[in-house]
Amino acid sequence: MNLISACIFDLDGVIVDTAHYHFLAWKRLAHELGYELTPADNENLKGVSRMRSLEIVLQLGGVTATAHEKELMANKKNTWFNDYVERMMPEEIFPGVKQLIRDLKSNGIKVGLASSSKNAKTVIKLLHIQNEFDAIVDGTMIEHSKPHPEIFLLTAKKLGVKPEECLVFEDAEAGVAAALAAGMKCVGVGNAQQLNRAHEIVANTADFKISELSKL
Ligand code: G6P
Ligand code: MG
Repeated sequence: MNLISACIFDLDGVIVDTAHYHFLAWKRLAHELGYELTPADNENLKGVSRMRSLEIVLQLGGVTATAHEKELMANKKNTWFNDYVERMMPEEIFPGVKQLIRDLKSNGIKVGLASSSKNAKTVIKLLHIQNEFDAIVDGTMIEHSKPHPEIFLLTAKKLGVKPEECLVFEDAEAGVAAALAAGMKCVGVGNAQQLNRAHEIVANTADFKISELSKL
C-alpha cells in the first residue's frame, strides 16, 4: 500500500541552485573579514537560518561581534544574495523538477514547499513556480529553523496530512535531521555520505522515480 500522500520540497539546492548563491554571499562576507570559507564549511550553513548561519561563519573565523554588528553583517549578506538572485531566470530551475512536481500531483500526491529562507517567495516567483504548491512555508513563518522539525510539521498541517504520510526532499544534513525528527521519510539530494541518514539518496531531485513512493 502507498503510505505517502504528500511530498515536501526544500528550495535551495533541491529545486534550484540558490545554495550556491548563499555560499557566494557568505564567502564574500568572510573574505571581507579576512578569511576564506570552503565548500566543506558551507555544508553546515545549508538549511539553517540566516542568523544561525552567521554565527557559524563568525565562529569559523574566530570573529566576535556585537548584536548590532551581526545585524549589519546579516543584512549585507542578504543584499548580496538578492543581487545574485534577482538576475535569475526561470530556466535555472533544476531540469525535470517542474515535471516531477506535476507528475506527483497528477498521481494524487500533494506537494508542499518548506524552506528556511525568508527569500523563498521571491525565488519561487522568479522561477514562475509560485502556483505549483498546495502549501508553502518559509523562514518568515517559523520560530525554529532546521534541524528542528517545526517547518515540516507546519507544512504537513497546511497540507492536511499526517507527518508519517510525508516524503521530504532535502540537500542539507540539517534538513534530513528535521524531516526525521518530524517522523517523515526523506530523500537526500546530493552527497550520499553527508546525507546518509536519509531513506534514499539521489544525485539530482528529478532522478527520483514516482514508482519508489510505494517502496519507502
Ligand atoms: C535556506 C538555506 C540556508 C539559508 C537559509 C536562510 O535554508 O539552505 O543556506 O541560510 O535558507 O535564508 P535567508 O534567505 O532567509 O537568508
Ligand atoms: Mg537546501
